[in-house]
Amino acid sequence: MKTVKRNILLNPGPATTTDSVKNAMVVPDICPRELEFGELTLSVRDDLIKIAHGEKNHTAVMLTSSGTGGVEACLTSVIPDGKKVLIINNGAYGERMQAICDAYGIGHVDYNIPASKPVDLEVLEKMIVDHKSEISHVAFIHHETTVGILNPLSEICHMSHKHGLENIVDAMSSFAGMDIDVERDQVDYLVSSSNKCIQGMAGISFVIARLENLKKTAPIKRNFYFNLLANYEYLQKNKQFLFTPPVQTLYALRQAVTEYFNEGAQNRYSRYASMYEIMKKRVRELGFEFLVEEKHHAKLLTAILDPKSANYSFNEMHDYLFERGFTIYPGKVGSINTFRLSNIGEIYPADIEAFLVVFEEYLRIKKII
Ligand SMILES: Cc1ncc(COP(=O)(O)O)c(C=O)c1O
Repeated sequence: MKTVKRNILLNPGPATTTDSVKNAMVVPDICPRELEFGELTLSVRDDLIKIAHGEKNHTAVMLTSSGTGGVEACLTSVIPDGKKVLIINNGAYGERMQAICDAYGIGHVDYNIPASKPVDLEVLEKMIVDHKSEISHVAFIHHETTVGILNPLSEICHMSHKHGLENIVDAMSSFAGMDIDVERDQVDYLVSSSNKCIQGMAGISFVIARLENLKKTAPIKRNFYFNLLANYEYLQKNKQFLFTPPVQTLYALRQAVTEYFNEGAQNRYSRYASMYEIMKKRVRELGFEFLVEEKHHAKLLTAILDPKSANYSFNEMHDYLFERGFTIYPGKVGSINTFRLSNIGEIYPADIEAFLVVFEEYLRIKKII
């Protein structure tokens, strides 16, 4: 197996991957219409359903796109003509859902919350009640990666069902990194992608959909490539993707899913959470403050307020760290400047410790602390 230079990505995906996932992409050329590839496709599909605990009532539809494509596919495939979706927006990805709806002329009722602030379930329920006759779905982000806030998945999904509505959850950066059970949590549609906590390569988005609901979307004719039901039915009938799949990315995803099961769900959640704890403790000791109140942290990404020192420059800090193998991420929320440290992917507590040493070294050299 070829070993590849290891970079520690602290951006929230595409995340650091194993060499075995990288190497899984080097395979003999194959026509994706061959049965062998079809079986690979179905095995990945079935395992994605299993990770979400959706074996009883859900399927998974995989699409060739980044995560946004999966969100777009879902919103445009399932909201009936003449109905609206209530969108909870507390960050850039909630706002993106609204922009997608605008692009397709899908009506939406917006529950806009300042980024970094939590959902107020009473306000949400009142909005649902006030708009019940107009809306068919409630859509929201589970882990709002803009700021690292965790929205209450189970509570919102249960609430949507209580009022006879379906739900759409963008779990892009939480699926396979946190405990999600679509049955227990009553999720109808869950969207994620291949390059975040599942630790594969970029290029595949997927929607884990309650089959009974998906089947009812046949009359909705708003999209083509991204039609969830058409993609589902074609794979079901032909054991093939409806359109050309990203062949090598699927081999990598197969390997990544196998490694997820080998590690074990609980172990992965604990590994991620333990890295967050190490990072949070040291960053706070160094005098930094967090954008989001700690009790709302998803423990997958932390948004840290920029230091006040005149010597601070995000770009310079980024470059110093990047040259030493660590990638960090900027973040601007309204007028507030932050930088973001994520702790997903094939990284370990020792990597975070190593990062913190270099991070502190930079801060001291520049007299920022
Ligand atoms: C919660 C969430 N939704 C959507 C997206 C968009 O995914 P992509 O950049 O793969 O299109 C991201 C990306 O980080 C995300 O974190």
